[in-house]
Amino acid sequence: MAGQSDTPYLDALRAYAARDPGRFHVPGHKGGAGADPGLVEDFGERVFRLDIPALTYGIDVGDEPTPFVAAQRLAAEAWGARRTWWLVNGASQGNHVALLTLGHLGDCVVTQRNAHSSTIDALIVSGLRPTFVSPELDPELHIAHCMTPEALDRALEETPDAVGATVVSPTYFGAVADVAALAEVAHRHGVPLVVDEAWGAHLAFHEQLPAQALSLGADLVISSIHKVVGSLTQSAMIHLGHGGLIEEPVVDRCVTLVESTSPSAILNASLDAARRMAATRGRELVGETLAALEGTRGAIREIPGLDVLDERLAGAPGVFDYDPLRLAIDVRGTRMSGYELARRLREEHDVLMELAGENVMVAVYGMGEDATAASERLLAALRGVIESTSEAERDAAAVQFTAPPPWGELVMTPREAFLGPQEVVAARDAVGRVAAESLAAYPPGIPNVLPGERLTTETLDYIEQTIAHGGSLRGASDRELRTLRVAVES
Ligand SMILES: Cc1ncc(COP(=O)(O)O)c(C=O)c1O
Repeated sequence: MAGQSDTPYLDALRAYAARDPGRFHVPGHKGGAGADPGLVEDFGERVFRLDIPALTYGIDVGDEPTPFVAAQRLAAEAWGARRTWWLVNGASQGNHVALLTLGHLGDCVVTQRNAHSSTIDALIVSGLRPTFVSPELDPELHIAHCMTPEALDRALEETPDAVGATVVSPTYFGAVADVAALAEVAHRHGVPLVVDEAWGAHLAFHEQLPAQALSLGADLVISSIHKVVGSLTQSAMIHLGHGGLIEEPVVDRCVTLVESTSPSAILNASLDAARRMAATRGRELVGETLAALEGTRGAIREIPGLDVLDERLAGAPGVFDYDPLRLAIDVRGTRMSGYELARRLREEHDVLMELAGENVMVAVYGMGEDATAASERLLAALRGVIESTSEAERDAAAVQFTAPPPWGELVMTPREAFLGPQEVVAARDAVGRVAAESLAAYPPGIPNVLPGERLTTETLDYIEQTIAHGGSLRGASDRELRTLRVAVES
């Protein structure tokens, strides 16, 4: 029986490549011979040799358990799941799978309003009717935290037809929800809890980290392994919990429904190897990264105007715990916005942040990277920008961001609005109409409008002002908001 130090899938690929079989199957690069030589030089021949299709005997077809099955069982064991599926279209695919799975149980769901765009897309794909719950908004940092158990309870009371609830934890900024209480509330209402733990794949591997959602009673957990744990971009997993509210064959069916019939062996192999690293060395690696980040936080606090988010945030509304592997930098004291600071870091030091907002910038650290060396570079760049900015420049950069207006009433499901009859109208004629597309003004990028919501004067004014001040608009077919797609209501 394979153990956590083994990589059955990666080993099977390696054995296949070593045999050098006759490759009369896709992909057409034929192990590299048919690929562009420049690409082979850049990637290395080995990648092409290991890049084989699905349904290959001895890898995912043949004696059970195949290496493909055995490797996913090891992943389930490592994260403590009833069953785990590898995903090759990211945690985005995981959200599609989760909502399609809930769609087998009925047609209403309770969803966090500021969920990732893939959850909104999943509402379109599944046709589920959402009852949106606002996350707790931080009045000082102007960022969204998590959904509280009380808010979930109220929403489930108001939505007796709900067949499940979906929440996000941790957030981009490292806030962790009270998943145990959320699961208890959902289960009291007889429905499963889906946790989008895209940012928390590492939580399972160190006791100083907040507990992972699966261990707290979540029924379905989406995990973006590539974000922090070190697999290749686009690779992720979805874990089924041990409660009985979700049927395993339904998840299985939904995974295949939104997956290519040619999943990348390279991505899959990277998941197998990342699982081995996390299971066998995760505790040691996370421990080193946490120690390095503690030093980094101290050093950032000494830079004039900068502060960091940390466990002091726990206890704020919507923050049960804090993920110390996330580095979120509070820039308010500099009188520059996070956007401005991130731009300067990029232009002057070639240092790129994961996310920049009005008051907070987020730097992502991988579980296994040399965090001390990475932090030295970040600290030098931060000091460089802060020290070279005069008071006059800060005055010029200081911007007042207004709070976005409340969300419009949801009058159709996102699917009805997105796929139903629609027309293009001038933005000024769209007030009172139902949006057929999403509108998210950057900054700050939280969707102002989702398909199915009624458009208000306040929201359209707010978006127009943001664009006029140099911001941008995501999700819209006309990014200048001259026109807008709206539903034709019967
Ligand atoms: C909360 C959340 N869920 C899902 C995703 C999608 O993850 P992926 O890029 O792996 O598809 C993201 C991406 O940033 C995210 O922040």
